[in-house]
Order: sequence, then structure tokens, then C-alpha cells
Amino acid sequence: MKLAIITGASKGLGASIAKKMIKEGTAIISVSRTENPELIELAAENQVFYGHYFCNLASPEEVESVFREVTALLREKQPEALYVFNNAGVIDPIGTAGNLDHKALIQNVHVNLIAPFMISNMLLNEASRDMTIVNITSGAAERPIQGWSAYCSTKAGMNMFTETAALEQQTAGSSHKIIAYSPGVMDTDMQSIIRSSAKEDFHDLEKFQTYKEKGMLRDTDTVANALIDLLLKKEIESGKVYYVNDLI
Ligand SMILES: NC(=O)c1ccc[n+]([C@@H]2O[C@H](COP(=O)([O-])OP(=O)(O)OC[C@H]3O[C@@H](n4cnc5c(N)ncnc54)[C@H](OP(=O)(O)O)[C@@H]3O)[C@@H](O)[C@H]2O)c1
Repeated sequence: MKLAIITGASKGLGASIAKKMIKEGTAIISVSRTENPELIELAAENQVFYGHYFCNLASPEEVESVFREVTALLREKQPEALYVFNNAGVIDPIGTAGNLDHKALIQNVHVNLIAPFMISNMLLNEASRDMTIVNITSGAAERPIQGWSAYCSTKAGMNMFTETAALEQQTAGSSHKIIAYSPGVMDTDMQSIIRSSAKEDFHDLEKFQTYKEKGMLRDTDTVANALIDLLLKKEIESGKVYYVNDLI
């Protein structure tokens, strides 16, 4: 059996990744604070295993205890291939450095960087079969966007973790692969949060409002399908950042 662990599968891109993987016959472990009933139904219709773990990824203690349970389940299920999607992410705090709320800042670093780091660390230590880790990154990892210093920095950190861990696996002669996927702008709740920010906090506010008005935000199913087709049908290069625009 093939198995996919997906963080943030409750909505947005994560839900679309889960839907596509279920349709491909892959068992799902979903990790987030809320559950998506549509996925439970879809998994039942397609007769694939679906397990949900409630977890606040901003809490390292919760991440550690939930992923201890997840690794115990993996030992039991012994999947022949394992896919891990570090997808959950947050944009807040939006604002210029000097005006950031520390609670939101710490939460951003925990959800966007520390949780994917810890999850990858625990699973790389555990997985004996082939594993592919996909870190969902952003164009913001590669260019400064005023008002997004936390988001840009955590996504940049995720890219560097991807490259470094991939190199380590290669040197160790391991078959595990780690890539990053930059999904472009998508029509999700994260974009609603961006559009509702204040002009003084976010320099590019009008540009992002225009994306929505002009229908330039991609739907998440298209973006997820391009990623899964890459994973299931092509030879992937570990350590690389893949961009949705190059795949569709
Ligand atoms: N939307 C875009 O235009 C865009 C562009 C580039 C990159 N991305 C990246 O794509 C990924 C998915 O984004 P999206 O747009 O689909 O976002 P979204 O619709 O806002 O969904 C975010 C997901 O992350 C989960 N999450 C957030 N905080 C969490 C926490 N503390 N603990 C556990 N789960 C948490 C949420 O689950 P719960 O609320 O149920 O916990 C939800 O499933 C993110 O990594 C984002 O940075 C998005």
C-alpha cells in the first residue's frame, strides 16, 4: 500500500492534494486542527484508509506526540511507498518589521518552519521504505515582499532545509527524496487574509486584490494535480524546488 501524510488537508491546497491522492488509491493520514468531512466520504467511496490526527502545528509538544503516534501507525501499516506533504502554512503576521505581533510571529515560525522540520526529522529517522517529502514553499522564499518578512523568511528556511536534507540523504546512499513545490497564487483562505490586510501593513495590497478581481488565482485542484502527476509519473530530482508554472 502507498500512504500519504498531509498537513493542512482540511482545506485549500492540502484538501486538493488529499482528494487527488485518494483517487489514486493512496491511504491518507491527515494532520490539522480541523477535519474535512468530504475527505472521509471520498476515502470510504474509494475504499482507502483515512486517518485524521488533530494537531496544532504551532505547538512543538503536540507535533512530537502526534508524530510519535503516526510513526507507530506506519510501523503497523508498513507502506511500500510513503509521501509526506508539509503543506500547512500561515501568512500572519502581515506588517513591517518593527510593528509585528510577537505571538503571531512565533506561530508563523512554528507552523511554517519548525513543524515541517520536526516532522521530516522524525520520519527520516523512522522510515525504512522509500519516502518522498514535499515541502510546500512559495515564490516569497526567493524575493522580499514588504509586510511579509516572517512568511518570506520561513519559506526561505524551508527551501534551504529541503536542499540540505536532500544532500545528506544522497551522501548517506538513502533512496528518500525531498523536494519543495512552489504552487503560485491560489484562490484559498490565505489569499482572503492577504486581501483583507491594511495598506500600511502590506505594500502590494492592490496587486493581490487585482489577482482576485481578474481571476488570476489558480484553483487548488489544478495545482495539486500537477504536483501529484509529477510525483507519480516522472523521475524527481531530490533537493530541487519545482514551480507550478513549469508543470502546467
Ligand atoms: N494561497 C496561495 O496563494 C499560496 C501561494 C504560495 C504558497 N502557498 C502555500 O500553500 C500552502 C497551503 O496554503 P493554502 O493557501 O491552501 O492555505 P489555507 O487555505 O489557509 O489552508 C491552510 C491549512 O494549514 C492548516 N494550518 C494552519 N495553521 C495550522 C496550525 N496551527 N496547526 C495545524 N494546521 C494548521 C489549516 O488547517 P486547520 O485550520 O484545520 O488547522 C489549513 O488546512 C501553505 O504552505 C502556503 O504557504 C499558498
